[in-house]
Parts: sequence; structure tokens; C-alpha cells
Amino acid sequence: MSTALVILAAGKGTRMNSDIPKVLHPIAQVPMLVHAMRAGSVLEPKRTVIVTGHGAEAVAKVARAEDEDARIVVQDQQLGTAHAVAQARAALDGFTGDVVVLYGDTPFLQPDTLERMIAARADNDLVILGFEAADPARYGRLVMNGDALERIVEFKDASDEERAITFCNSGLLACDAGTLFDLIDAVGNDNASGEYYLTDVVEIARDRGLKVTAVSCDEAQTLGVNSRADQAAADAVFQARARAELLDLGVTLMAPETVYLAADTVIGRDTVIEPNVVFGPGVTVESGATIRAFSHLEGCHVSRGAVVGPYARLRPGAELAENTRIGNFVEIKNAEIAEGAKVNHLSYVGDASVGAGTNIGAGTITCNYDGVMKHRTVIGENVFVGSNTMLVAPVTVGSGAMTATGTIVTRDVEPDALAVGRAKQENKPGYALKLFEMLKSKKARRDKGA
Ligand code: UD1
Ligand code: MG
Repeated sequence: MSTALVILAAGKGTRMNSDIPKVLHPIAQVPMLVHAMRAGSVLEPKRTVIVTGHGAEAVAKVARAEDEDARIVVQDQQLGTAHAVAQARAALDGFTGDVVVLYGDTPFLQPDTLERMIAARADNDLVILGFEAADPARYGRLVMNGDALERIVEFKDASDEERAITFCNSGLLACDAGTLFDLIDAVGNDNASGEYYLTDVVEIARDRGLKVTAVSCDEAQTLGVNSRADQAAADAVFQARARAELLDLGVTLMAPETVYLAADTVIGRDTVIEPNVVFGPGVTVESGATIRAFSHLEGCHVSRGAVVGPYARLRPGAELAENTRIGNFVEIKNAEIAEGAKVNHLSYVGDASVGAGTNIGAGTITCNYDGVMKHRTVIGENVFVGSNTMLVAPVTVGSGAMTATGTIVTRDVEPDALAVGRAKQENKPGYALKLFEMLKSKKARRDKGA
């Protein structure tokens, strides 16, 4: 059976108090919308439709970056959840199969929950995802009759008796596409909010003799984010879960609660992560590496046996081969560091490749930017780059070469050559003594005058 996803993401998210549409706010550095899309991807959807409204262009951009085939529709006025799903009708033209409706601001949904909903579709026409709410607050209430779902009543429209129900509506549903749009056509807006409630499809389906049920998941999965406080709490929940998974996988986290992970961070067994390390999106660390304290990594790959930090910064495109060493106050960007190479202290290596066994001395800088364009630096194998070398790109240093400390390398260095480019030193005997005398008497005169 083929599946299509409809992700509702038109809401403004007033309580976020933000210029950015709510669904683009990140949890674990990935926009909430992308979390929802990734959760839905387990169903291998034939089509994905994102219903946008507030900040439609920005939302569309993020959705397409995740899935270039995502279809974006715009709901100009937010007239309710049924009206939102109705906007997906044209984008689903010609599609036959099940539609699964998700919310863009519910980042914790687990893949098996969606699979259970699809499984329940085998003997039901419409499946709703519900949860037992610790505090049912303003959620829609699921009125059950045995296994059958009779109807969903919104909090605002509920009687006291119905408000006492704790089995609540998550908002997710699964239904055959044709059936769903037929049901939505019959939804009106005669209710306390004057909105077209998607939840009304349940009662309409029942009236038409269709079979409706609710599948249950734990409340944590249906947590929606409505405010910055919710976002922070959701992030904390995500972090706790991701850290626990890494510990289970055999990663050492010396102070787990100080390690900040992204949703896609991958770390191999027997790797040690020291305290206060931040992982941005797109980081893979292989087995047996060490990431020392206070390092910041994003969009990079660290191979087996590498040691990074303390206080290192790996930016997008940093590619560290096995047994490399990246030390304190070193920044690597868009650069391949080959096996066994070392960049141990106070250096910037950007838009570069560094060959195997090469040693980059303290304070070395690849001058990659001329103010307009970026240029590459290519350093061969077993090169010794002396401290405080400036490599003015584009430039190549051949294998086995050396650069003298303080050299400004502006021309290519051939293999095995020594590049020296610095002013000649001159020593003037006794001059320091004279200079000190002169400066001291100058200071004495000034202090007297003051
Ligand atoms: C909805 C459900 C409620 C459920 C709750 C779970 C309805 C009528 N009610 O209520 O039963 O317990 O979610 O969180 O469905 N949206 C649009 N366009 C609209 C309206 C909403 O795209 O016109 C989107 C929102 O951006 C959001 C989602 O749909 O992602 C839910 O809308 P929201 O207004 O939060 O619904 P609730 O009142 O919370
Ligand atoms: Mg809501």
C-alpha cells in the first residue's frame, strides 16, 4: 500500500514570540519540520505535502532542502486543521493509497508508532493516534466505545463528563486518500472556535458506517512545541535520549549532561568524549577517537584513533583521517587532514589538504581568503611546516619540504625544499642596556612632571 504524508505547518506559533515560523525552530539543531519529515520517511511516502502559511517561503526552502520532491502548498488563512488538510488535495491528485497527517511541530514521533497506525488501517477505515495525557489540558478528547472511536470532542466544546476523559487526540491520523477528502468535504465550522476541525471526520465517518479506531502511544512522542520554554524542554528530552543511546552503544561520555548533540550525530564505539563538547549538524566520529574538552564540531568526519582538542573547532568539510591530531585553539574548515598528520596548536587550516605524516607548527595560518575569493592550499606528505608560517593561497608545498619559522609562503615550494622567507636578524651588542637606560630616565622625567 502506498502512503502520502501531509504535514501541517501553517501555524504562526504566536507564543514563540519570533519572526521565524515555529516549525523552523530547531530541536537538537534540526528544524522541527525536518524532524517530522524524517519521522514520516519510515513510511517511504510516495508523496510528501507540506501545508505552509506563515513564513511559507522559508518553510518551503527548508522542506525542499530535506526532500527536493516535497510538494509545498499554501494555506492563506488558517481556518482550521480540516481546512489545512484540504489544501493538500490538488497536490495529491492522482495519488491512491493512504494519507498520514502529521504536525510540523511534533518532533518526537517514533517510527514504530506510524507503522502501528498503518497496521491498524488493515481493519479500520480511519485510524487516529491518541495518548494518555498526564494533564489533558486543552487537548481534544477521544470518546471510545470499546476499540471503536466514536468521536473527538475539542476541549472548548466538551461537556464536564467529556473533559474528564484522559485519552487525548495527538492530531495524527491515517486514512485512504479518497475517503479522507470526502469526509473533509462534509466538515463544517459550527463550533466554539468557528474553525474547520479535522477531528470532526471521526463522527462523520461513523455516521457513514465506516470503522474508526485509535492507536495509542506514550505522551512524550506527541509533545508539541508552542513556546521557547517548550522548545528548551523538548531539546533537553532529546539530549537525554541521545546521550543514553550513545552510552548504550559503547561511547564514553565523561560528563554526559555537558555534551550537546545534534539529531544526526554519529559516534562509534570506544570513542571518548570529554566534558563540554558541542556537536553541530552533520558530524560523524568513528570508533576509538577522542574528542577532548570544550571542542566544537559541525559538518565534519573524524576517523578512528584521531584526537581532537581540547578547545578545537572543526567546521564543515573538515575531514580527519586515522590517527590525526588536532590540538588546542586549532580551527579546521573544508580541509582534509591525512593519516597521522598533526596540527597541534593555535592554527587555522581552511580550504586545504594536508598530506600524511605532515606536522603543522604552532600558529600556522592558511591565508585562504583574498577579500573576494577563497583559494586552496595543498601540502604534501611528511612536510614540516615551521611555527607561524603564513601560507598565502593558492599555494602548494611539496612532499618532504620544510618551511622555516615565520615564513610567508607566497610561491609554491618544490618537494624536499626548504622555504625561508623572513627578515634577516641582526644583533647589536650592548644596545638593550642603552635602550633600557634611556627609557627609564624618560619615565623618571615624566613621573616628576606629573
Ligand atoms: C489540535 C486538535 C486537538 C489535538 C491537538 C494536539 C483539531 C481541531 N484539534 O488542536 O484535538 O488534541 O491538536 O496537539 O484538530 N494548522 C494549520 N492550519 C490551520 C490550523 C492549524 O496548518 O488552519 C496546523 C498548526 O500549525 C499545527 C497543527 O495544525 O501544526 C495543529 O493546530 P493547532 O492550532 O495547534 O491545534 P490545537 O488547537 O492544538
Ligand atoms: Mg496545538
